[in-house]
Amino acid sequence: VRLEVPPGEAFKTRESWARLTDEMLAAGCGRDTTVIALGGGVVGDLAGFVAATFMRGVPVVQVPTSLLAMVDASVGGKTAVDTPAGKNLVGAFHPPAAVVIDPFVLRTLPVGELNAGFAEVVKHGVISDTSYLRRVTDLLSSLPGGGGTPPPADDHTWGAIEEVVAGSVAIKARVVAADEREGGMRKILNFGHTIGHAVESLSGYALRHGECVAIGMVVEAAAGERAGVTEPGTAAAVRDVVRLAGLPDQVPATMAPEAILAATRGDKKARAGAVEYALPERVGAMASAGGRWSVPLPDRVVVEALERGA
Ligand SMILES: NC(=O)c1ccc[n+]([C@@H]2O[C@H](COP(=O)([O-])OP(=O)(O)OC[C@H]3O[C@@H](n4cnc5c(N)ncnc54)[C@H](O)[C@@H]3O)[C@@H](O)[C@H]2O)c1
Ligand SMILES: [Zn+2]
Repeated sequence: VRLEVPPGEAFKTRESWARLTDEMLAAGCGRDTTVIALGGGVVGDLAGFVAATFMRGVPVVQVPTSLLAMVDASVGGKTAVDTPAGKNLVGAFHPPAAVVIDPFVLRTLPVGELNAGFAEVVKHGVISDTSYLRRVTDLLSSLPGGGGTPPPADDHTWGAIEEVVAGSVAIKARVVAADEREGGMRKILNFGHTIGHAVESLSGYALRHGECVAIGMVVEAAAGERAGVTEPGTAAAVRDVVRLAGLPDQVPATMAPEAILAATRGDKKARAGAVEYALPERVGAMASAGGRWSVPLPDRVVVEALERGA
C-alpha cells in the first residue's frame, strides 16, 4: 500500500502517526510488513516512528529524497514526531534495515533546501575531516555562483555530489556507530546546534534548520576561539565555506544576543543550568574535553561571539 503525507513539518505529528497506523491496520498490514520511508526528513522521522511502534516494531527502509535527509536524518536511527511543547519530543531509536540513496533525485529539490542540507555536510567536514571539507569546498565552488543556484545537469557535477553525499553518510555513520545513544562522542554532531536551535526557535521556525546551523557553527567556533578551546582562524574558515554554500553566517539583526542566550537554556542539551557546546579544536577535529565532547561556556564569551561573529 502507498500512504501519503502532505509536505511540511506541520504534519510530523502524533495525529499523522495515528492516521498512518490506522490506514496500515485497515489495509491488513501485519508483523511481516516493511515500511519504506520515501521523502525528506519529515517523512523519514514520521514513517520511522510509525515503523518503530507498529506491531511493537517492524523494519523501516529509509529512502531519503532531500540532501538533509540523505546526509543526516536517514542515518543514526532517530525517529520522532513533534508536539505543541516542542520538536521531536516523542519518538524512538529505530535504526533502518537499509538506507537507499539516489542523489540524482536532488535535481528537483528547491535550491534553498539544497543549501540548507549543505550546512550538515559542511559540519561533517569541520568535525572530522579536512580533506573531505576540501572536496565539499571544491564542489560548492564549481556550482555556478556558489550556493543559490541549481546544480547543472552534467555528469561531473553529479559525480561530485554523489561522492560528497557518500562521504557525509560515512562520517555520520562512523560517529553514530561509535556512540549510538549519545553518551559521549556523538555529541560532536551537535556542533552549531546549540546556537542554531536557539536561533531557529526565536525565528518561529521561519528560518530553515540548516540556515540556523550555519549561523550556529560560525558563532560557536568564534566562541570557542574566545574561550581558548578553538584554534584562531577556525571561525573565519567555517564562515567562508558557509558563505560559499549560500548560507547565512550571522544572526539576524532583529535577534538580541541576550535573547539567543536565554533560548539556549531551553535546549534539550542543557544540563543543570550550564549550557554545553560541542566545539572544534580546529577545522577537522573536535575538542574531546576529556571524553565529554562538550564544553560549558561562560555567558560573556557567547554574547561576545554573537555580537562580533568570526
Ligand atoms: N532523525 C534525525 O536524526 C534527523 C536529523 C536531522 C533532521 N531531522 C528531521 O528532518 C526534518 C527536516 O528534513 P528536510 O530538510 O528533508 O525537510 P522536509 O522533509 O520538510 O523536506 C523539505 C521540502 O522538500 C520537499 N522535497 C523533498 N525531497 C524532494 C525532492 N527530491 N524534490 C523536490 N522536493 C522535495 C519536501 O516535500 C518538503 O517540502 C525535520 O523534521 C528534522 O527534525 C531528523
Ligand atoms: Zn541538524
